[in-house]
Amino acid sequence: MTDFSQSPPHAPLTPSDRDLTTLNTLGLSARAQACVTLSHVDQLPTLTDLALQYPGLLVLGGGSNMVLPAWIQSLVVRVALTGVRLIEERSDAWIIEAGAGENWHDFVTTCVDRGWSGLENLALIPGTVGAAPVQNIGAYGVELADRFSGLSAWHVGQRRLVQMTSAECRFAYRDSVFKHAAPGEWIIVSVRFALPKPWRPVLDYPDLRRYFGDLAAPTARDIYQAVCEIRRAKLPDPAVVGNAGSFFKNPIVSASVRDTLLQQYPGLVSYPQPDGRYKLAAGWLIDQCGWKGKQLGAAGVHDRQALVLVNKGAATADDIMTLAAAIQRDVAARYQVHLEPEPVVWRDHSAA
Ligand code: EPU
Repeated sequence: MTDFSQSPPHAPLTPSDRDLTTLNTLGLSARAQACVTLSHVDQLPTLTDLALQYPGLLVLGGGSNMVLPAWIQSLVVRVALTGVRLIEERSDAWIIEAGAGENWHDFVTTCVDRGWSGLENLALIPGTVGAAPVQNIGAYGVELADRFSGLSAWHVGQRRLVQMTSAECRFAYRDSVFKHAAPGEWIIVSVRFALPKPWRPVLDYPDLRRYFGDLAAPTARDIYQAVCEIRRAKLPDPAVVGNAGSFFKNPIVSASVRDTLLQQYPGLVSYPQPDGRYKLAAGWLIDQCGWKGKQLGAAGVHDRQALVLVNKGAATADDIMTLAAAIQRDVAARYQVHLEPEPVVWRDHSAA
């Protein structure tokens, strides 16, 4: 575990071409004409200078939420800023800071090991700490926003490091201010978490309730292990089968749309939202349309979770997006509901 203050002196940022096939969890064959690794905050001003020479800037964390084209002309930045430290112990929370390049699951494991509980429901999510706020990762009843304290981010165009609060990040379901910014506008440098004291288990999610049954008081480690087991049973390991987790967001619809659908389809899975609307289980909608386990070209639908699209071998971004479009069409035709893709689909020309 590194302390930020003891980071080694930085190396020069020298762009070179790089194969990204193993750096995106879908395992799409991709190559960047220019790639740099950011390992120290002192490199950020140089990065801004460099960015001006390319048609765009693609910030790559764990590559777990990206659909990459075969050839990328934008400057690709691999974020390798590391370090995890306790920065404050308050009466109501541990405040922990982690470098954006830390692997998310390793960070969660470190927190659980050290008794800083609160992130255990988010175990085994692929990707990095820096990518986590972008889509406000969430699983098993907890979202990053619930445990967020603040973050530091470099504004590439304005050449400055900015501190952002939760309100400024505008977190919503799988959404944040960063999803609406121009690509490459921000580079998240480090994230601070407030892990609550006293800790309380979050066991609302049906899978967890089923797992623990009558066990009255699971510990954070019990929940961590349960979440790992549940995820391993349902979701493909990207190291074995290329995938980007849930490919679509769960759509949120009005109560009247949900009621009408429920009359027609009594098995419809939906969850009430605080604002009176309902979140529909996209996996259920896709499954009902018969897509589970199906394949189109070199892209497929996972056989245990229809919300996950998989690379069946040598899939390209086009294969994945063709399958996604076919699923969207079927779900819209049957349920009149639009499914919105969740990963970032990179196109050089869309870059800033
Ligand atoms: N379902 C089906 N068939 C399927 C898949 C799901 O009928 O093929 C039904 C399930 O039986 C269940 C419901 O749909 O009743 C919801 O399924 P699940 O509990 O697996 O969760 P999800 O809504 O599909 C979301 C997140 C996951 C997260 C889980 C657990 C999104 C887009 N996905 O999936 O996040 O792990 O809940 O909290 O919100 C991710 O974002 O990459 C991700 C994996």
